[in-house]
Amino acid sequence: MTLLLDVRAATMRFGGLTAVDNLSFSVEAGSIHGLIGPNGAGKTTSFNLISGFYTPTSGEIIYRGENIAGIGTHRTAAKGLVRTFQHSTLFQEFTLLENAVVGCHLNLRPSLAGAIFGNDRRRRRAARERAEEVLEFFGLAERRHELASELAHGHQRALGMAVAMAANPTLMLLDEPFTGMNPEETKRMMELTFKLRDSGVTILIVEHDMHAIMGLCDRITVMSFGRLLAEGVPQEIRENPKVIEAYLGGGAHAA
Ligand SMILES: Nc1ncnc2c1ncn2[C@@H]1O[C@H](COP(=O)(O)OP(=O)(O)O)[C@@H](O)[C@H]1O
Ligand SMILES: [Mg+2]
Repeated sequence: MTLLLDVRAATMRFGGLTAVDNLSFSVEAGSIHGLIGPNGAGKTTSFNLISGFYTPTSGEIIYRGENIAGIGTHRTAAKGLVRTFQHSTLFQEFTLLENAVVGCHLNLRPSLAGAIFGNDRRRRRAARERAEEVLEFFGLAERRHELASELAHGHQRALGMAVAMAANPTLMLLDEPFTGMNPEETKRMMELTFKLRDSGVTILIVEHDMHAIMGLCDRITVMSFGRLLAEGVPQEIRENPKVIEAYLGGGAHAA
């Protein structure tokens, strides 16, 4: 078993509020790992710590053996750690292909890209080829010249994943990818998530849809009030009295 990500005693305070409180958990390479918990539990804040967007008040974020706490999203992306957002961040007036090309450049620092590709033309061609490849992977190739704004909601989400995938991630963070999807779109998105994992991408996913989470994940970490509440395989989580209490008790909304 290889640990790709190891969150060690991460704490994030906003003024007097502790959004993430001494959280430790790890993600095995090649797995689909769920991060769940009631609304306000600290899931999105944890993603912001892992992606380097926030600097933890204390604790470490070990990714491939290196502490990446607070290094910033550009540098984590360059290391293959890429996140998609809860809300779509696509360029609506760009075509699918143009969006995917933008994704290709997310993890390439100009100097490094120059060293690899030699010149701009070769770099552009490589990006274009990669963009075509990821659209094909997500079943969007035929629509590559359509505008992102013309896509149905489910396809927009798939394009969001394609854009993230274009950057060649090792670890992909998905924040609520199934929100607003109908059952058919959810089913297709689950298939795409499995396909992504099978292609070698490790996935950490925050999601409200319990059915999807239970069906997708190898392991699940449960947070409540910023803290680790439980950790285990889906069956263990489903039957854990503390987890059931956290979701049903205290008036918290299931998240
Ligand atoms: N930038 C911020 N400033 C102050 N409080 C925040 C900030 N981000 C999140 N919080 C608070 O931290 C807690 C955890 O929020 P969040 O991580 O968004 O939870 P979740 O994603 O599990 O619903 C909440 O009480 C929220 O109001
Ligand atoms: Mg959230």
